Amino acid sequence: MVTDLSASEELERIALKHATEATQLDQQGSRGLAIAKYQRAVDVLLQLCALYPNSSQNLVLMEHVESYRKRIKELQNQANHHEPIESAPSGGEAKFEHLVLNEKPDVKWDDIANLSEAKKAIEESVIWPVRRPDLFPLGWPRGILFFGPSGCGKTLLAAAAATEIDATFFCVDASSIMSKWLGESEKNVAQLFAEARRVSANGKAAIIFIDEIDSLIGVRSQEVGGEIRTRNQFLKEMDGLIDKKKVLHTYVIGATNKPWTLDEPFRRRFQKRILVPLPEESARLEMFKIFSKKLNLGADIDLVELAKITDGHSGSDILNNFQAAQSRVVREFFENGNPDDRQAKTRPIMMQDFRDVFRVRKPSVDQRTIRSYKEWSEQFQAA
Ligand SMILES: Nc1ncnc2c1ncn2[C@@H]1O[C@H](COP(=O)(O)OP(=O)(O)OP(=O)(O)O)[C@@H](O)[C@H]1O
Ligand SMILES: [Mg+2]
Repeated sequence: MVTDLSASEELERIALKHATEATQLDQQGSRGLAIAKYQRAVDVLLQLCALYPNSSQNLVLMEHVESYRKRIKELQNQANHHEPIESAPSGGEAKFEHLVLNEKPDVKWDDIANLSEAKKAIEESVIWPVRRPDLFPLGWPRGILFFGPSGCGKTLLAAAAATEIDATFFCVDASSIMSKWLGESEKNVAQLFAEARRVSANGKAAIIFIDEIDSLIGVRSQEVGGEIRTRNQFLKEMDGLIDKKKVLHTYVIGATNKPWTLDEPFRRRFQKRILVPLPEESARLEMFKIFSKKLNLGADIDLVELAKITDGHSGSDILNNFQAAQSRVVREFFENGNPDDRQAKTRPIMMQDFRDVFRVRKPSVDQRTIRSYKEWSEQFQAA
């Protein structure tokens, strides 16, 4: 049974996830995507406050809203971007302007460890057909689904794709479709696709990236009318991308960590379904190298050994391990060092710091979940 409590908890969980991702993207310098994610967090929090106006925690939530808005403003000012991103203009194409990524994120293919299969899928299904549509007389896939455990690079891949591909990017997630204009979400879906088709009519690719696509189109037991209509509209729009008369470069890239909630009609429309797995040892080593670029590492640090002992850790686990190791060093510096001396530096991170971190931090993805991905991908993967 679904209780009110679980609905509010779910919204809170979604808001927290957006906010965490926003902060990460912000730290990586992906301004455009960070703005989009902060905005999603704001939307969800506002929805939460609207649904539970008497809740005692609303004051705290509104404080968060204000701080995210402030950060959005700062980022916009940095970009010299004067369009207010918060107001959804009424009606028509303009409504989706704020979903368009105006500025390229600061993430490149090389910032992503491994995941060559996913990068290849994007190359084969988007980059090549845009360059030489004549080489694909039978058509080509318009839908790509990335699925896999949390924190392994699905969102990061989309950010890099936006940087590397000359395309108009629409960054969408369920809360931006479902919550903002609740009640007419199927119209939003139709307009979003219409706008993407319009943009791509002149030969430049338009990519609709739908993060957490499961919460938009996943099968849920307690579906209400609006959600069913939204799903059907979505199916219809995806069929419409394959227009026999025109070569339209409109693509949909979806990401989910719950692929099993997508039913057959959706699976069929995402002709490419690519597993973004937990990183293997070589990928973890690459990540350790990528993340250590910005840090001061001690002479005894053995990245190969670190990659070995982090079996089962996701990309974001590894990033968090690094952050935890660094904060040990920083804590020590503030407690014992001379933080007011601008020249003074922290000591390097040593192997022992990581050992201490691993004692208290375990992988975030459990074995049972990993088995579920394996089973789903054996059944439905389509590379
Ligand atoms: N392959 C990778 N290479 C480099 N960094 C990675 C990789 N995978 C994950 N990370 C790090 O972990 C963070 C989280 O990854 P990301 O947000 O892309 O995960 P996700 O697969 O979208 O997870 P979720 O399913 O929870 O949305 C990234 O911002 C990045 O710092
Ligand atoms: Mg993600």
